[in-house]
Amino acid sequence: MTRTSPPTIALLGGDGIGPEVVDATAEVLAALLPEATFVRPLHGQAAIEATGDALPEAARDACRAADAVLFGATAGPSHPVLRFLRWGLDTYANLRPARTLPGLPSPLASDAPIDLLVVRENLEGEYPGREGEIAEFRERWPGFRDNIGRELPEQGLFTLRLTTEEGSRRVAHAAARQAATRRGHVTVVTKSNILRRTDGLFRRVAEEELDAAGIEHRHLFVDDACRRLVAEPTSFDVLLAPNLFGDILSDVAAELTGGMGMAPSGCLGDRHAYFESVHGAAPDIAGRGIANPLATVLSACMMLDHLGWADPATALHAAVERLLTDRRTVTPDLGGSATTGEVARALIDLLD
Ligand code: IPM
Ligand code: MN
Repeated sequence: MTRTSPPTIALLGGDGIGPEVVDATAEVLAALLPEATFVRPLHGQAAIEATGDALPEAARDACRAADAVLFGATAGPSHPVLRFLRWGLDTYANLRPARTLPGLPSPLASDAPIDLLVVRENLEGEYPGREGEIAEFRERWPGFRDNIGRELPEQGLFTLRLTTEEGSRRVAHAAARQAATRRGHVTVVTKSNILRRTDGLFRRVAEEELDAAGIEHRHLFVDDACRRLVAEPTSFDVLLAPNLFGDILSDVAAELTGGMGMAPSGCLGDRHAYFESVHGAAPDIAGRGIANPLATVLSACMMLDHLGWADPATALHAAVERLLTDRRTVTPDLGGSATTGEVARALIDLLD
């Protein structure tokens, strides 16, 4: 898809270093795509102080109306923002690419380039956050026995792990679409030997969708997948996993390709999409102007691609590669002494 009408992008910095890395990225985007419109909805701590609500209705509307949202990071005040961007916008497919970039440290012995994509189910699994007392569980399932026939203990806690057929199917479909634009292979990752019903359903539905789409696939248990990610990362193209496993796999994959400071992500739904770095709000360096904006810049590349602006996306990615190759203007986490703003301006100079 190639777009011609200029996009409207909602910028939400969030907490900690989030606003700094989003502002730097916006500066680069404005230079790259001068026709784009940027809106900055009031949110987070400032919105709490002004209105008592971390994400007032006007901000929600602005996010819904935008073609995409670029989000910074969350450390607390912006948690409701993250909840809205995921559940409120129904962004069910979290794409987390891990791709080797020039000159970044790798813990691996081989320097064969890695290019993989974790597709994480973004709304189900453990994340709805329903936990409770065993007493409630016993009421709901009287006579429940554990797997060696004992009654449940009097005291203890349980967690809900939600898996629906529709939720599994639509994220599998998203993974199939991604694979079709890549090397055409999906590894489905579950623990269906233990989580027989929930992950059994996720796996079955995923395999059905991938078969229907004509995409090659295999299944790995999550422990084996983690091991293989480290041992043979180049054997992966797309990985498809339930929420919590995808969260963990994507951190492992990030560490193989330059660390969390460099890892981008995008969350796609059928009507909305938002993009954010995988790293946190890094409160220890917030406000000092030294945060590395590259994970957010790479998330912006994904956003441009998603919006159909493939050429600007490619140009921006190439600028990041050049910046990392010549290494004169990188932030302290990458061994340099540049500020966040200097990185943004260097990227603008490096754009074709
Ligand atoms: C991530 C983060 C979040 C998650 C936390 C902050 C809730 O780890 O985006 O990967 O687990 O989804
Ligand atoms: Mn995570």
